[in-house]
Amino acid sequence: MQLSDKIALVTGAGAGLGRAVTLRYAAEGAQVVAVSLYERELDEVRRAAGDDAQAITTVVGDVADPASVDKVARLVLERFGRLDVLFNNAGIIIVKPIEETSVEEWDRLMATNLRGPFLFCRAFVPAMKARRDGVILNMSSGSGIKGFIGESGYCPSKHGIEGLTKTLALELEPYNIRVISLTPGVAINTPMSESHYTEEQRKVWQDPAVIAPAFAYLAQERNPAFSGLRLNAFEISQKLARGEAIVP
Ligand code: NAI
Repeated sequence: MQLSDKIALVTGAGAGLGRAVTLRYAAEGAQVVAVSLYERELDEVRRAAGDDAQAITTVVGDVADPASVDKVARLVLERFGRLDVLFNNAGIIIVKPIEETSVEEWDRLMATNLRGPFLFCRAFVPAMKARRDGVILNMSSGSGIKGFIGESGYCPSKHGIEGLTKTLALELEPYNIRVISLTPGVAINTPMSESHYTEEQRKVWQDPAVIAPAFAYLAQERNPAFSGLRLNAFEISQKLARGEAIVP
């Protein structure tokens, strides 16, 4: 129960990786605010949590919408008085040649994958600064490191996550707020992956619960040397399973 004193918020909590991390956080004793687009997804997460469901507060919200994000932030700060862990996970992908990608699609990718994390950071940083404590985990991707064919919107959005992480790590370092980006490090079996994985990737994909331990570990890690880094969630989870130390 390494997170028993934590208030955590997970975006895109209704499916895939966000669902897996929400369940893990609740199992580790955190109070989790699970934000997602669809109520039916969030109801399923609560059912899957069993006895841990009492630790999960579900909120229907759109990370791309400033009014929606402000509403979530007010609710969390009124109810819990603080936020210890912010996991900016919600994301969408569109894979097609650039000339077939509409402006509306490109804007939607950016609004969900990059504006969303910006809005959530902006909403919660003042409360974290006031307490001089907090962890922000931003979901990146291999597409945040290099280019992939057909990802003229998704790749820039994930490269943007890397820039946001590095900037906030510097800006928030005086306030002891750690800001970290993560790649899965392994093919994960999620609704997003269903939409675009190749047959080869499907042969090796793993349940996202396999990489959830890394997100739980980083939620309680206080070493400032982790801030500004891009970490591999699979590698960290494997090390934790082997009982090895996690060093920045
Ligand atoms: P998913 O599509 O399986 O699940 C995403 C969840 O986010 C769903 O519950 C969906 O309803 C919610 N969501 C989508 N747009 C939202 C919005 N505007 N506001 C609130 N909630 C919203 O995605 P998956 O695969 O779990 O991915 C999670 C994160 O991991 C994303 O940031 C993705 O880019 C990243 N990632 C995923 C990889 C993969 O292979 N699936 C690989 C690398 C990174």
